[in-house]
Amino acid sequence: MSEPGAAVDPRAAALDDPAVRSRLDPQGMAGVLSRFPAQCREAQALRPVPDVPLGPPRLVVVAGMGGSAVGGDLLSACAGDRLRVPVLTHRGYGLPAAAGPGTLVIAASYSGDTVEAVSAFEAALAAGTVVLAVTQGGRLGALAARHQAPLVRLPGGLPPRLALGYLFFPLLGILASAGLPTPPPTEVAEALEVVEALAVELGPAAPAGKNEAKHLALEIGDRTPVAYGGQLTGAVAYRWKTDIEENAKRLAVAGALPEMNHNEIEAWRAPEAGRLHAILLRDRGEHPDIGRRFDLLRAVIGPVAGGVSEAWSRGEGRLARLLSLVYLGQWTSYYLALGRGVDPWAVPVLEEVKRRLRG
Ligand code: PA5
Repeated sequence: MSEPGAAVDPRAAALDDPAVRSRLDPQGMAGVLSRFPAQCREAQALRPVPDVPLGPPRLVVVAGMGGSAVGGDLLSACAGDRLRVPVLTHRGYGLPAAAGPGTLVIAASYSGDTVEAVSAFEAALAAGTVVLAVTQGGRLGALAARHQAPLVRLPGGLPPRLALGYLFFPLLGILASAGLPTPPPTEVAEALEVVEALAVELGPAAPAGKNEAKHLALEIGDRTPVAYGGQLTGAVAYRWKTDIEENAKRLAVAGALPEMNHNEIEAWRAPEAGRLHAILLRDRGEHPDIGRRFDLLRAVIGPVAGGVSEAWSRGEGRLARLLSLVYLGQWTSYYLALGRGVDPWAVPVLEEVKRRLRG
């Protein structure tokens, strides 16, 4: 970060300038991001209606797309060390063939109008699985009401990727109702404290010289971001990629260790490596072997990459570590959008494609 007395970087000054923010972010994404900890607290109280007891499943499928699928990724990452049944995140039409009696299907779509999630809900009805919907309404909400399926009704008015708290925390309650282990209250409380502290540290009022998200956005600059996670944070790296793509409207790459050591690492020998910027998403709880792999990765790609940055998770519990890195990625993508001079909120191409496919 900048040294005292160093010349002011105009790009940093722009990220600190409220006038730039109001011009490029008229709908107020910064405010929504700042309220993320409050959203998480509120989301803990969201329950399915009717809140019927669910039998213990042999398989859990979270079916959704984009921002609505990430709750499933986080669920398997944060509860994976305790769960004895698999949690699959299904991104696509229908359901995996393994779904059937004994499967708990959670169809998640913030808008409720995403055709893949609607199709998963219908496939669950046809397969006779237990099925719940998590949505603010739309076609999925109407289907759930028609079939008297338990429905977690989410507050509306947000872009789905900004509704992560609403899309994730109710899943913990659903798992608990099905008798499955979830992070204990102390771990959840720690995660909320960590994101509360980050909301101040990473928000627009924290100047670029002291703000890790602004700093990362400035380091990445115009280079193509490549986010690498470890065994736990691979799903977080994917979330960084999608947040950067939707908010900053620029391509990004995501990968995970150790898998990328077996393929992608070779591609860093290409001349275009100089136009890439790697962000290594380090986890305080990572296995020492993963730590060694990150060090080796840095040694291999450092000399050829346009740049390499490192970001560390916060907190002790898995949930805090995961959410802290996701939240840092959300803010970094926000500042990348401002740096590029684009409105982070609007996603007109994505919406037009969805509208055409709905017919
Ligand atoms: O963030 C977004 O806007 C998208 O990734 C959406 O989440 C995705 O298109 C699915 O829409 P929904 O979350 O409403 O089901």
